[in-house]
Amino acid sequence: MIDKKTIIKNIPYAIEKVAYPKLGKRYSGKVRDWYIRDRLRILIATDRISAFDRVLGFIPFRGAVLNTLSQFWFEKTRDIIANHMIGIIDPNVMLVTECRALPVEVIVRGYITGVTETSLWKKYSEGERTIYGIRFPEGLIKNQKLKKPVITPTTRGTGSSGHDEPITPSEIIKKKLIPLDIWQKIEKTATKLYERGSQICNRAGFILADTKYEFGLDRAGKIILIDEIHTPDSSRLWLKQSYKGLFKKGQEVENYDKEFMRIWFVRNGYMGKGKPPPMPADLIVKIAQRYIDVYEKLSGEKFHFDLTLRPNQRILENLTKLV
Ligand SMILES: Nc1ncnc2c1ncn2[C@@H]1O[C@H](COP(=O)(O)OP(=O)(O)OP(=O)(O)O)[C@@H](O)[C@H]1O
Ligand SMILES: [Mg+2]
Repeated sequence: MIDKKTIIKNIPYAIEKVAYPKLGKRYSGKVRDWYIRDRLRILIATDRISAFDRVLGFIPFRGAVLNTLSQFWFEKTRDIIANHMIGIIDPNVMLVTECRALPVEVIVRGYITGVTETSLWKKYSEGERTIYGIRFPEGLIKNQKLKKPVITPTTRGTGSSGHDEPITPSEIIKKKLIPLDIWQKIEKTATKLYERGSQICNRAGFILADTKYEFGLDRAGKIILIDEIHTPDSSRLWLKQSYKGLFKKGQEVENYDKEFMRIWFVRNGYMGKGKPPPMPADLIVKIAQRYIDVYEKLSGEKFHFDLTLRPNQRILENLTKLV
């Protein structure tokens, strides 16, 4: 585990963006920057951290964890479905096949939890019993395991609100967002991926409470897994060891994902509106350590960081190999 002093020393070098004009236009999402070359996407995980749909700060080593952990999972799930990964050219950079992303995010949930508008627990606690077209029994408790994992798709936030909206599988077909045969394949694949993810997480001491997958079509029209997989950004990861005890006592589980940071912001009076409070160094250290811890426990390997070069400098040097 990386020590507190090293993380603090690296806070000023957290990667805010990666500008390399020789690669053409830089595109960016909340977390990643990317360049498009031929039919490839150079996908760069920065150290930006977002919640409530906006960037709230920078966490050193976070981008590298997200990227190398996705690499780990893409390799572990390749037998279930082909994915966009072509290669890794830097801890923060993955070369991927540029795809036509399907307009739906596929969320698989094995537990009922969450506080955001699209989460199961929020809706259930407000009295809804048919959620995402699925009927839920009476008497469920927050963070309870479901009898069987459920798939709860959302649209990809292209609507007027810009947010992800829940949608049912029958609406996906009716609105012609995805053809029926492709959707059926996606449902099967997502279930298998979640099973595989849960097994591997379980062995590493985590519960994969829920997770999100994105799929795309490559040039040949083949469905492939894109974006990131089973990272603490796209999943809720809970510590297995303490889950049962805390659940029985009706207490919150130990989160090894973004929920940890969301809770800090909410406690500090921030719910996504106005100016966010700056993250104190102590919080940044804790988040960085949790991300690294997840990587090390899941992959079974030490998180490798070479501090001889500043991360941004190292990325730029590695990117020159592509021009
Ligand atoms: N192989 C791929 N082909 C096309 N698009 C991809 C591929 N892999 C990932 N993407 C898209 O690239 C973007 C990655 O950026 P990032 O992770 O920053 O997005 P985000 O913050 O999660 O969401 P948003 O794009 O809404 O800001 C996502 O929009 C994702 O859907
Ligand atoms: Mg993303």
